[in-house]
Amino acid sequence: MSETSIKLAHFSDLHLAGKRDGRGLARLEALLNAVIDAGCSHIVISGDLFNSTDPGDWLVIREVLQNKGLYSWDKATIIPGNHDLINLEEEMRIYNALNPDADGRAKRLRKKMNEFSSLFRELITGDDTVTGFPYIKVLDYGGVKISLVVVNTVFPWNNIDNPLGARGNVSRGELGALFDPSVDKALRDSFVIGVIHHACRIYGTDALIDQAFDWTMELKNRDELLQTMQHLNAQVILHGHFHRFQTYTAGGIKVVNGGSFSYNPRRYSEITIHADRTFTQRFVDV
Ligand SMILES: [Fe+2]
Ligand SMILES: [Fe+2]
Repeated sequence: MSETSIKLAHFSDLHLAGKRDGRGLARLEALLNAVIDAGCSHIVISGDLFNSTDPGDWLVIREVLQNKGLYSWDKATIIPGNHDLINLEEEMRIYNALNPDADGRAKRLRKKMNEFSSLFRELITGDDTVTGFPYIKVLDYGGVKISLVVVNTVFPWNNIDNPLGARGNVSRGELGALFDPSVDKALRDSFVIGVIHHACRIYGTDALIDQAFDWTMELKNRDELLQTMQHLNAQVILHGHFHRFQTYTAGGIKVVNGGSFSYNPRRYSEITIHADRTFTQRFVDV
Protein backbone atom coordinates (compact mmCIF):
# COMPACT_ATOMS: atom_id res chain seq x y z
CA MET A 1 0.00 0.00 0.00
CA SER A 2 1.27 3.46 -0.84
CA GLU A 3 1.39 5.68 2.27
CA THR A 4 1.23 9.47 2.24
CA SER A 5 2.82 9.86 5.66
CA ILE A 6 4.67 7.65 8.12
CA LYS A 7 5.12 8.07 11.86
CA LEU A 8 8.30 7.06 13.58
CA ALA A 9 8.73 6.87 17.37
CA HIS A 10 12.04 7.58 19.06
CA PHE A 11 13.11 7.32 22.67
CA SER A 12 16.35 6.69 24.45
CA ASP A 13 18.39 5.79 27.49
CA LEU A 14 16.25 3.16 29.13
CA HIS A 15 19.04 2.22 31.54
CA LEU A 16 17.26 -1.01 32.42
CA ALA A 17 18.86 -3.20 35.06
CA GLY A 18 18.10 -6.38 33.10
CA LYS A 19 15.68 -9.20 33.78
CA ARG A 20 15.08 -8.21 37.37
CA ASP A 21 14.02 -4.67 36.45
CA GLY A 22 10.30 -5.44 36.58
CA ARG A 23 9.27 -1.83 37.01
CA GLY A 24 11.35 -0.58 34.09
CA LEU A 25 10.10 -3.39 31.85
CA ALA A 26 6.47 -2.72 32.74
CA ARG A 27 7.00 0.96 31.90
CA LEU A 28 8.64 0.01 28.61
CA GLU A 29 5.67 -2.19 27.72
CA ALA A 30 3.28 0.67 28.49
CA LEU A 31 5.25 3.05 26.29
CA LEU A 32 5.38 0.52 23.45
CA ASN A 33 1.61 0.03 23.71
CA ALA A 34 1.12 3.78 23.34
CA VAL A 35 3.47 3.92 20.36
CA ILE A 36 1.60 1.08 18.67
CA ASP A 37 -1.78 2.70 19.42
CA ALA A 38 -0.51 5.97 17.93
CA GLY A 39 0.10 4.16 14.65
CA CYS A 40 3.89 4.49 14.55
CA SER A 41 5.42 2.30 11.87
CA HIS A 42 8.91 2.11 13.29
CA ILE A 43 10.64 2.69 16.62
CA VAL A 44 14.20 3.81 17.25
CA ILE A 45 15.89 3.43 20.63
CA SER A 46 19.15 5.35 20.61
CA GLY A 47 21.32 3.57 23.14
CA ASP A 48 21.99 3.05 26.84
CA LEU A 49 19.37 0.35 26.84
CA PHE A 50 20.91 -1.16 29.96
CA ASN A 51 23.09 -0.47 32.93
CA SER A 52 24.71 -3.78 32.13
CA THR A 53 27.20 -5.02 29.59
CA ASP A 54 26.01 -8.61 30.03
CA PRO A 55 24.24 -9.99 26.93
CA GLY A 56 22.25 -12.20 29.33
CA ASP A 57 20.59 -9.00 30.57
CA TRP A 58 20.13 -7.64 27.04
CA LEU A 59 17.88 -10.56 26.14
CA VAL A 60 14.91 -9.01 27.96
CA ILE A 61 14.57 -6.23 25.42
CA ARG A 62 14.33 -8.81 22.69
CA GLU A 63 11.56 -10.56 24.64
CA VAL A 64 9.62 -7.35 25.24
CA LEU A 65 9.82 -6.35 21.57
CA GLN A 66 8.87 -9.86 20.49
CA ASN A 67 5.83 -9.85 22.78
CA LYS A 68 4.69 -6.60 21.18
CA GLY A 69 5.26 -7.88 17.64
CA LEU A 70 7.99 -5.30 17.15
CA TYR A 71 11.01 -7.55 16.95
CA SER A 72 11.72 -7.28 13.25
CA TRP A 73 14.02 -5.34 10.94
CA ASP A 74 11.24 -3.16 9.56
CA LYS A 75 9.67 -2.37 12.95
CA ALA A 76 12.55 -1.54 15.27
CA THR A 77 16.08 -0.15 15.27
CA ILE A 78 18.15 -0.21 18.45
CA ILE A 79 21.72 0.87 18.99
CA PRO A 80 24.06 0.45 21.95
CA GLY A 81 25.27 3.29 24.17
CA ASN A 82 28.31 3.55 26.39
CA HIS A 83 26.45 1.93 29.30
CA ASP A 84 25.72 -1.14 27.17
CA LEU A 85 29.28 -1.60 25.98
CA ILE A 86 31.69 -0.29 28.62
CA ASN A 87 31.99 -1.87 32.03
CA LEU A 88 33.59 1.04 33.86
CA GLU A 89 34.47 -0.90 36.99
CA GLU A 90 36.16 -3.61 34.98
CA GLU A 91 38.09 -1.10 32.88
CA MET A 92 39.38 0.65 35.98
CA ARG A 93 40.26 -2.62 37.68
CA ILE A 94 42.19 -3.86 34.65
CA TYR A 95 43.87 -0.49 34.29
CA ASN A 96 44.99 -0.52 37.90
CA ALA A 97 46.13 -4.10 37.75
CA LEU A 98 47.79 -4.25 34.38
CA ASN A 99 48.66 -0.67 33.47
CA PRO A 100 47.62 1.05 30.27
CA ASP A 101 46.74 -1.29 27.46
CA ALA A 102 45.00 0.53 24.62
CA ASP A 103 44.78 -2.59 22.45
CA GLY A 104 42.99 -4.47 25.20
CA ARG A 105 40.41 -1.72 25.65
CA ALA A 106 39.68 -1.50 21.95
CA LYS A 107 39.44 -5.28 21.81
CA ARG A 108 37.00 -5.48 24.72
CA LEU A 109 34.78 -2.80 23.16
CA ARG A 110 34.89 -4.58 19.80
CA LYS A 111 33.88 -7.82 21.49
CA LYS A 112 30.88 -6.12 23.12
CA MET A 113 29.91 -4.51 19.80
CA ASN A 114 30.05 -7.92 18.16
CA GLU A 115 27.93 -9.46 20.92
CA PHE A 116 25.36 -6.70 20.45
CA SER A 117 25.34 -7.00 16.66
CA SER A 118 25.04 -10.75 16.92
CA LEU A 119 22.26 -10.81 19.53
CA PHE A 120 20.16 -8.21 17.70
CA ARG A 121 21.09 -9.31 14.17
CA GLU A 122 17.45 -9.69 13.12
CA LEU A 123 16.99 -5.95 13.74
CA ILE A 124 20.20 -5.06 11.92
CA THR A 125 20.29 -7.29 8.85
CA GLY A 126 16.84 -8.83 8.95
CA ASP A 127 18.24 -12.36 8.87
CA ASP A 128 20.98 -14.48 10.43
CA THR A 129 23.84 -12.47 8.99
CA VAL A 130 25.88 -10.51 11.51
CA THR A 131 27.25 -7.16 10.45
CA GLY A 132 28.86 -4.25 12.26
CA PHE A 133 28.43 -0.48 12.18
CA PRO A 134 27.73 1.67 10.29
CA TYR A 135 24.74 0.18 8.58
CA ILE A 136 21.85 1.50 6.56
CA LYS A 137 18.20 0.56 6.58
CA VAL A 138 15.98 1.61 3.70
CA LEU A 139 12.32 1.36 4.67
CA ASP A 140 10.12 1.68 1.62
CA TYR A 141 6.47 2.35 2.45
CA GLY A 142 5.49 3.04 -1.13
CA GLY A 143 4.71 6.75 -1.03
CA VAL A 144 7.29 7.39 1.69
CA LYS A 145 10.81 6.02 1.71
CA ILE A 146 12.88 6.41 4.88
CA SER A 147 16.57 5.59 5.27
CA LEU A 148 18.23 5.18 8.64
CA VAL A 149 21.99 5.71 8.75
CA VAL A 150 23.08 4.02 11.95
CA VAL A 151 26.51 4.98 13.31
CA ASN A 152 28.33 3.89 16.47
CA THR A 153 29.68 6.75 18.59
CA VAL A 154 30.90 4.73 21.60
CA PHE A 155 34.69 4.55 21.86
CA PRO A 156 36.97 2.77 24.33
CA TRP A 157 37.45 3.81 27.93
CA ASN A 158 40.66 5.65 28.64
CA ASN A 159 41.75 7.04 32.01
CA ILE A 160 42.80 10.38 30.47
CA ASP A 161 40.79 10.85 27.28
CA ASN A 162 37.60 9.05 28.26
CA PRO A 163 37.58 8.71 32.05
CA LEU A 164 33.86 7.96 32.40
CA GLY A 165 33.59 5.98 29.18
CA ALA A 166 30.92 8.55 28.29
CA ARG A 167 32.83 10.51 25.67
CA GLY A 168 31.99 9.68 22.09
CA ASN A 169 33.94 9.34 18.86
CA VAL A 170 33.15 7.92 15.46
CA SER A 171 36.01 5.96 13.95
CA ARG A 172 37.66 7.14 10.73
CA GLY A 173 36.81 3.86 9.08
CA GLU A 174 33.14 4.17 9.91
CA LEU A 175 32.90 7.74 8.60
CA GLY A 176 34.92 6.81 5.51
CA ALA A 177 32.57 3.92 4.75
CA LEU A 178 29.67 6.36 4.55
CA PHE A 179 31.39 8.27 1.74
CA ASP A 180 31.34 5.20 -0.47
CA PRO A 181 29.31 5.94 -3.64
CA SER A 182 27.17 2.86 -2.98
CA VAL A 183 25.75 4.60 0.11
CA ASP A 184 24.59 7.61 -1.90
CA LYS A 185 22.95 5.26 -4.31
CA ALA A 186 21.16 3.32 -1.58
CA LEU A 187 19.83 6.51 0.01
CA ARG A 188 18.57 8.06 -3.19
CA ASP A 189 15.03 9.47 -3.10
CA SER A 190 14.59 8.73 0.57
CA PHE A 191 14.14 10.77 3.73
CA VAL A 192 17.47 10.27 5.51
CA ILE A 193 17.71 10.01 9.30
CA GLY A 194 21.00 9.65 11.18
CA VAL A 195 20.91 7.53 14.34
CA ILE A 196 23.67 7.89 16.95
CA HIS A 197 24.01 7.71 20.73
CA HIS A 198 26.00 10.86 21.61
CA ALA A 199 24.87 14.46 21.19
CA CYS A 200 25.79 16.74 18.27
CA ARG A 201 26.32 19.69 20.57
CA ILE A 202 28.07 20.51 23.83
CA TYR A 203 25.68 20.71 26.69
CA GLY A 204 26.82 23.78 28.52
CA THR A 205 25.90 24.70 32.03
CA ASP A 206 26.19 27.92 34.00
CA ALA A 207 27.51 26.18 37.05
CA LEU A 208 31.30 26.23 36.99
CA ILE A 209 31.47 22.99 38.88
CA ASP A 210 29.66 21.22 36.06
CA GLN A 211 31.91 22.51 33.30
CA ALA A 212 34.42 19.74 33.79
CA PHE A 213 31.59 17.34 33.17
CA ASP A 214 30.85 18.62 29.69
CA TRP A 215 33.86 17.31 27.82
CA THR A 216 33.59 13.87 29.36
CA MET A 217 30.16 13.50 27.71
CA GLU A 218 30.86 15.09 24.32
CA LEU A 219 31.09 13.56 20.88
CA LYS A 220 34.69 14.43 20.08
CA ASN A 221 34.45 14.54 16.30
CA ARG A 222 30.87 15.78 16.03
CA ASP A 223 31.90 18.19 13.25
CA GLU A 224 33.09 15.30 11.10
CA LEU A 225 29.93 13.36 11.89
CA LEU A 226 27.82 16.37 10.90
CA GLN A 227 29.77 16.81 7.66
CA THR A 228 29.14 13.17 6.87
CA MET A 229 25.42 13.54 7.60
CA GLN A 230 25.32 16.67 5.41
CA HIS A 231 27.00 14.73 2.62
CA LEU A 232 24.27 12.10 2.91
CA ASN A 233 21.55 14.79 2.91
CA ALA A 234 20.30 13.72 6.33
CA GLN A 235 17.32 15.81 7.38
CA VAL A 236 17.18 14.62 10.97
CA ILE A 237 19.61 13.11 13.47
CA LEU A 238 18.32 11.17 16.47
CA HIS A 239 20.35 10.65 19.62
CA GLY A 240 20.22 10.17 23.38
CA HIS A 241 23.03 10.02 25.95
CA PHE A 242 22.54 13.46 27.49
CA HIS A 243 19.31 12.88 29.38
CA ARG A 244 17.23 15.76 28.07
CA PHE A 245 14.20 15.85 25.77
CA GLN A 246 15.12 18.52 23.27
CA THR A 247 15.46 19.52 19.66
CA TYR A 248 18.10 21.80 18.16
CA THR A 249 19.84 22.46 14.88
CA ALA A 250 23.43 21.47 14.13
CA GLY A 251 25.12 21.87 10.77
CA GLY A 252 21.75 22.83 9.31
CA ILE A 253 20.25 19.49 10.38
CA LYS A 254 17.40 19.10 12.85
CA VAL A 255 18.62 17.09 15.82
CA VAL A 256 16.36 15.33 18.30
CA ASN A 257 17.59 14.35 21.73
CA GLY A 258 15.22 11.54 22.69
CA GLY A 259 15.81 12.38 26.30
CA SER A 260 15.75 9.71 28.89
CA PHE A 261 13.18 7.03 29.42
CA SER A 262 14.83 6.50 32.79
CA TYR A 263 13.77 10.05 33.78
CA ASN A 264 10.40 10.09 32.06
CA PRO A 265 9.13 6.75 30.74
CA ARG A 266 5.91 8.33 29.49
CA ARG A 267 7.38 10.55 26.78
CA TYR A 268 8.65 9.82 23.29
CA SER A 269 9.55 11.80 20.21
CA GLU A 270 7.29 11.34 17.19
CA ILE A 271 8.40 12.26 13.69
CA THR A 272 5.85 12.33 10.88
CA ILE A 273 7.37 12.09 7.43
CA HIS A 274 5.34 12.97 4.37
CA ALA A 275 5.60 11.80 0.78
CA ASP A 276 7.07 15.16 -0.29
CA ARG A 277 9.88 14.60 2.25
CA THR A 278 8.71 17.32 4.63
CA PHE A 279 8.37 16.35 8.26
CA THR A 280 7.14 17.45 11.67
CA GLN A 281 8.42 16.47 15.09
CA ARG A 282 6.84 16.63 18.52
CA PHE A 283 7.27 15.09 21.93
CA VAL A 284 4.29 13.02 22.94
CA ASP A 285 3.26 12.45 26.56
CA VAL A 286 1.30 9.26 27.04
FE1 LIG B 1 22.33 7.44 29.30
FE1 LIG C 1 25.20 7.36 27.20
